[in-house]
Amino acid sequence: MKALILVGGFGTRLRPLTLSVPKPLVEFANKPMILHQIEALKAVGVTEVVLAINYQPEVMLNFLKEFETKLGITITCSQETEPLGTAGPLALARDKLVDESGEPFFVLNSDVISEYPFKEMIEFHKAHGGEASIMVTKVDEPSKYGVVVMEESTGQVDKFVEKPKLFVGNKINAGIYLLNPSVLDRIELRPTSIEKEVFPKIAAEKNLYAMVLPGFWMDIGQPRDYITGLRLYLDSLRKKASPKLARGPNIVGNVLVHETAKIGEGCLIGPDVAIGPGCVVESGVRLSRCTVMRGVRIKKHACISSSIIGWHSTIGQWARVENMTILGEDVHVCDEIYSNGGVVLPHKEIKSSILKPEIVM
Ligand code: GDD
Ligand code: MG
Repeated sequence: MKALILVGGFGTRLRPLTLSVPKPLVEFANKPMILHQIEALKAVGVTEVVLAINYQPEVMLNFLKEFETKLGITITCSQETEPLGTAGPLALARDKLVDESGEPFFVLNSDVISEYPFKEMIEFHKAHGGEASIMVTKVDEPSKYGVVVMEESTGQVDKFVEKPKLFVGNKINAGIYLLNPSVLDRIELRPTSIEKEVFPKIAAEKNLYAMVLPGFWMDIGQPRDYITGLRLYLDSLRKKASPKLARGPNIVGNVLVHETAKIGEGCLIGPDVAIGPGCVVESGVRLSRCTVMRGVRIKKHACISSSIIGWHSTIGQWARVENMTILGEDVHVCDEIYSNGGVVLPHKEIKSSILKPEIVM
């Protein structure tokens, strides 16, 4: 089987992290976002993944080369010369997606995280016999997503409305599709949206089916949702009694600590924390609801909550970093500094406190 991942865009909502690497390569729970997806695809027998991309394909391919061999999966790029939206890239990659087998293929948005129940999706797709399957999930605020109205018993979709202004329902498109090759006959090679131009038509012909996604789901393309997504992800590891979760007297709730990270005496870490490779956390540090990327040093008695600390940054002694502070790569926060929601571009030194949420250039 084959799969296409819509990589697209510049990931502006996840800046300053995406100033250093393309969004799909930003680590989530100590692993690049896209690897969570590729590994799950591999697990259900996908042999070839096509990355639909319009930005820095070399960076992605160089990075993923290593995993091609490790995972035994083919990863190729289909590069657009202009952004083709969420459907156009499928038309562009047509020859890579279709072969004699006539098998359906997966399409994923690159910024969604879940337990990727692909196996259940394949069974669902076979059972209903329609042209396309999509995963849906319930959310409290449906207006920023594609909303699906469906028959509960069969999953047949009556209506698909992208980003509705008026309430139509609370089941939303989770950005995970399984499509028959015939769907490609509906897509022209031009900038076009699968949500606005393709799904509504297949739904009108009663050929679109939706399956309610079991387990958690989150679009992690924005800092606040990224932090929430980490909580949900770690919670799912807890339910599976995963051995990856850290244990010990200084750990509270669900925490990931990379095996090469060092944690000092008297720290209190958690809940909902991921500490990346090579990090050094000195004594007396307090961390909660945060991600600390590769190579970060956190000095004595610093306190970090609800924040993301970019690669190779340092946090000074007794510093306090909180409220959606996002530090880019190689940022240095001096001793005793306070950051309340600072968004700091790469390679900066922070010598005075950031008292209210703002971008530091
Ligand atoms: N190759 C390519 N070219 N990819 C693109 C382009 C493009 O021109 N434009 C967007 N993408 C990719 C994005 O990188 C992302 O992986 C995916 O397509 C969806 O785009 P987003 O910009 O993240 O859309 P969204 O989050 O507002 O809405 C989409 O996702 C929701 C779930 O998170 C829609 O699919 C909604 O219906 C859905 O509910
Ligand atoms: Mg998105």
